[in-house]
Amino acid sequence: MNDSRPGRVLFSAEAIHRRVSELGEQIRGDYAGRPLTIVAILKGSVIFLADLARHLGHGVTIELIEASSYGDGTTSSGQVAIRRYGKLDVQGRDAILLDDIADTGNTLTAVRRSLEGMGARSVRTCVLLDKPCRRQVDLVVDYFGFEVGDDFVVGYGLDYDDYYRNLPDICTLRPEVVGVRA
Ligand code: PRP
Repeated sequence: MNDSRPGRVLFSAEAIHRRVSELGEQIRGDYAGRPLTIVAILKGSVIFLADLARHLGHGVTIELIEASSYGDGTTSSGQVAIRRYGKLDVQGRDAILLDDIADTGNTLTAVRRSLEGMGARSVRTCVLLDKPCRRQVDLVVDYFGFEVGDDFVVGYGLDYDDYYRNLPDICTLRPEVVGVRA
């Protein structure tokens, strides 16, 4: 194993690159001829956003938001605070809500509801990783790259204590790395 990595590689940069390209083509086909707004949730989605957006062609706008769950650090209350950057104009537009991972599903569910309340014409969800075994709400994501089990994973936007987001691969975290940081 390469010791510069925090654990086992689950998805290599090459595999991610291929899958993101496929997702981009799928979305581009589904929205052909229709203006589309990508609403990306900071910070986890930034690397995915940058790669996916370049496959989407013309007629695409990008909005950024921040969403944080209330909870005690290990459990989620299901309540999500949303902070906008700029005007976040989705009125009458088709939107895709983009994130790195769907875990409990609380974040995507709350933000989707909020975008619908702002008058979006349609809202679909897109994540690189889907972790359905952790779901607390009835959310089925519309586009996902890979399904994962209950491993804690980092890289390609996903963090541990804000580190490892810049790793090109998605890796598990070795227990001895926890607490040491990158
Ligand atoms: C992570 C991830 C999603 C959310 C998913 O964000 O990026 O936004 O959790 O969890 P859920 O499905 O249980 O709601 P986090 O709050 O860790 O912030 P970050 O994106 O800045 O890492």
